Amino acid sequence: MIEIKSVSKNFIDGKSNVNALDDISFSVKQGEIISIIGKTGSGKSTLLNIMLGILKPTKGEIILDGISINRKSKKKNLRKITKILLSSFQYPDHQLFNSTVKNEILYNSNDENYMKELMKIINFSQDLLDESPFNLSSGQKRKLILISLLIQKPKILLLDESTAFLDPKSRVEFLKTLININEKYNTTIIFVSHNIEDVRRLNGKTYLLDDGKLICSGNVNNVLLKYGEKNE
Ligand SMILES: Nc1ncnc2c1ncn2[C@@H]1O[C@H](COP(=O)(O)OP(=O)(O)OP(=O)(O)O)[C@@H](O)[C@H]1O
Ligand SMILES: [Mg+2]
Repeated sequence: MIEIKSVSKNFIDGKSNVNALDDISFSVKQGEIISIIGKTGSGKSTLLNIMLGILKPTKGEIILDGISINRKSKKKNLRKITKILLSSFQYPDHQLFNSTVKNEILYNSNDENYMKELMKIINFSQDLLDESPFNLSSGQKRKLILISLLIQKPKILLLDESTAFLDPKSRVEFLKTLININEKYNTTIIFVSHNIEDVRRLNGKTYLLDDGKLICSGNVNNVLLKYGEKNE
């Protein structure tokens, strides 16, 4: 379980002080799928980076399975548990650096059987194993990144705008893949997006951020209704 406890974040940028997050609290159980939605600048990526321990909250803390991650000594632990699909996921080329698909996947593991199992679930052809990652389509690159992360057996996957720049068909396929992974491995999925269709399709408990505040949460349709009202 990951608990977000009274988290606030101020950015002091020259003379201006941006209150990016204001007293956010909620928790996510192991195996849950949740979506965090909100318009541009509402604080989504800031919250995600705090959950990852990349950013320090100004106030509050993140507790992972009972342990505060904001204590330095736990950073290494956190790296093992939380695997990130950063916003640079929008630019998968920045996350791929091996000469073949196979080397890319097995960079952090040597479990070929598990690799094959994941490729089946993610619907990624084994014919591509000797290809250069850079020759893949953008949908395939995302799947490859996902396999490379999953082979490290993360308990929690955090995704920031991970479907941006995918065409509608690969988008639907990618979301189905996430749901498959969640069902098969009980992986917690934390999906940050401002795409209403994606969030509706994922159908997890949804949290709406507005101007750094958590203004409502719950059933995806109710929250999207509120989001629509806010952005009319
Ligand atoms: N490093 C930083 N320094 C100063 N201000 C920042 C920094 N990072 C974020 N902010 C500000 O904090 C607020 C929240 O930004 P954040 O990136 O978390 O929003 P977001 O909801 O992810 O937006 P988007 O949908 O555009 O990705 C914004 O006002 C942003 O300008
Ligand atoms: Mg963002």
